[in-house]
Amino acid sequence: MKKMKKRISFFLMSSLILFNFSCYYDQEIDLSQPLPDIPVDQTISFSTDIEPIFAKSGKDCTACHNGNVANPDLQAGNAYADIISQIVPGDAEGSTFYQRLPGNGHPLDVGFVMDNADIALIKAWIDRGAENN
Ligand code: HEC
Repeated sequence: MKKMKKRISFFLMSSLILFNFSCYYDQEIDLSQPLPDIPVDQTISFSTDIEPIFAKSGKDCTACHNGNVANPDLQAGNAYADIISQIVPGDAEGSTFYQRLPGNGHPLDVGFVMDNADIALIKAWIDRGAENN
C-alpha cells in the first residue's frame, strides 16, 4: 500500500514537472540543456547544413520568410545575401540574426522553437566565420 502511494505521488510529481516545462519552454531555448557541441573538425556548409534548416518540415521558416511575407528571405539560394547584413562573422551572440531566431527573441510567436541541434549548428557556422560555402 505504501509503495502504491509512493508510485502515485511520483507519477503526479512527474506530470506536474513535465506540464510546467511544456508551458515554460514554449518560446524559449531550453538553456538548462547546453547547446550540443559541434566538433571543431566538422565542416559546416551553408548550402548543405544551414539552408535546409530553414525549410524543415514542421518548423518551416520559408513559409513566411519567402521574400513576400517577412524579411529576411530564407529560401535556398537567397538566404545568404539576405541575412549576412545581420551577421557579425565570428560572433553569433553579437549577431542580430542569431538573437532573433525562433526561441531566441524572434519578433513573432510562430508556434514552434528551433531544435537546439539546429541552433548550435547556426551558432557554430557564424562563430567560424559565416562563410557562403
Ligand atoms: C509565421 C511566420 C513566420 C515563421 C514561420 C518564421 N518567421 Fe521569422 N519573422 C516573421 C516576421 C513577421 C518577422 C518580422 C519581419 C520584419 O520585421 O520585417 C520575422 C523576423 C525574423 C527575424 C528578424 C529579422 C529582422 O530583420 O530583425 C529573424 C532572424 C527570423 N525571423 C528568423 C526566422 C527563422 C530562422 C525561422 C524558422 C526557424 C522563422 N523566422 C520562422 C515571421 C515568421
